[in-house]
Amino acid sequence: MPSPLPPLPSDTILAPMAGVTDVAFRLLCKKDGAGLTVTEMRSAHALARANKAVMRLIDVVPEEAPRCIQLFGQKPEYFVQSAKFLENKGEIIDLNFGCPASQIIQQGAGSALLERPNQIQKIVAAVSSAVNLPVTCKLRLGINSHKINVVKIAQLCEQSGAAMITVHARTQKQGYTGKADWSWIKKVKEAVKIPICGNGDVRTPEDYLRMKTETSCDLVMIGRGAIGNPFLFNQIEEYKKTGKYTPRTQTQQLQDFFAYLKLAEKYNVDFNYIKFHALSFTKGIAGSAQLREKLSRMKTVEEIKKEMEVLTKTIN
Ligand SMILES: Cc1cc2nc3c(=O)[nH]c(=O)nc-3n(C[C@H](O)[C@H](O)[C@H](O)COP(=O)(O)O)c2cc1C
Repeated sequence: MPSPLPPLPSDTILAPMAGVTDVAFRLLCKKDGAGLTVTEMRSAHALARANKAVMRLIDVVPEEAPRCIQLFGQKPEYFVQSAKFLENKGEIIDLNFGCPASQIIQQGAGSALLERPNQIQKIVAAVSSAVNLPVTCKLRLGINSHKINVVKIAQLCEQSGAAMITVHARTQKQGYTGKADWSWIKKVKEAVKIPICGNGDVRTPEDYLRMKTETSCDLVMIGRGAIGNPFLFNQIEEYKKTGKYTPRTQTQQLQDFFAYLKLAEKYNVDFNYIKFHALSFTKGIAGSAQLREKLSRMKTVEEIKKEMEVLTKTIN
């Protein structure tokens, strides 16, 4: 019997984003109101081979439970072995059938699998019967606009035991460009019974509500809109309750960075993530252009902290 999704405190999900969604950033988004966060994708093949470097990259901590760990790969047996390894490290396993990056497609993984619905079916069936955890799937619409097959694949995922399906409403060919076509989220929602999570181009509380209203999706996943702005989850919660939301101030933006930094230091987050977030949390702040130039050359957390403190004083 496939496991259902556990109850979540909110219907918003922080999207998995390689190079962005480290443990500190995920915890901050949760604190701000995200109902679920997902790790960036990890190779099922490397995990199945007990690759220690990849094992160390599974950076989940009990405080963020339910922990959702995303895997990419191609062969059902590798997915099964790695999912078993993860069984006591997380509460949900997410399977990536959407990544458009060329190095992933060349392995026959990520969105390349959209051309092989039967292989997707085998992977989902194998993983959901091998582990006692809910298995979720993240899909794109298809390879290109002439080959949209997301409805059929969503039905196969449901029949094979998936507990939720996320639809990123773009094709593989679109990459991250063009507009997400939400009408396909609605079509998938009408075709299956399990929860559907809509994804693509949600950047404001108004976008969140519009996606829910237009598609009837159960959950909304947010990626780029949350970069440098975990407060968006907070605003969405407020908007749901009151129809209004508190605008974010620059002070709030920098306070969020320091909250991120505290968590990043606590959990030993790699310096490259910290630098990325220092740059993203200072976007749009007057006078930050020079600082951002400096930040990109910095080599230690102390240097970043010092500069961010100076910037905080200038905006107060
Ligand atoms: C920098 C970056 C890294 C990403 N890494 C992943 C990933 O590891 N796994 C995945 O399923 N999607 C990944 N995505 C796609 C996002 O999860 C999401 O589907 C996409 O950005 C669309 O949502 P948005 O319009 O809210 O950003 C990534 C996106 C970005 C921008």
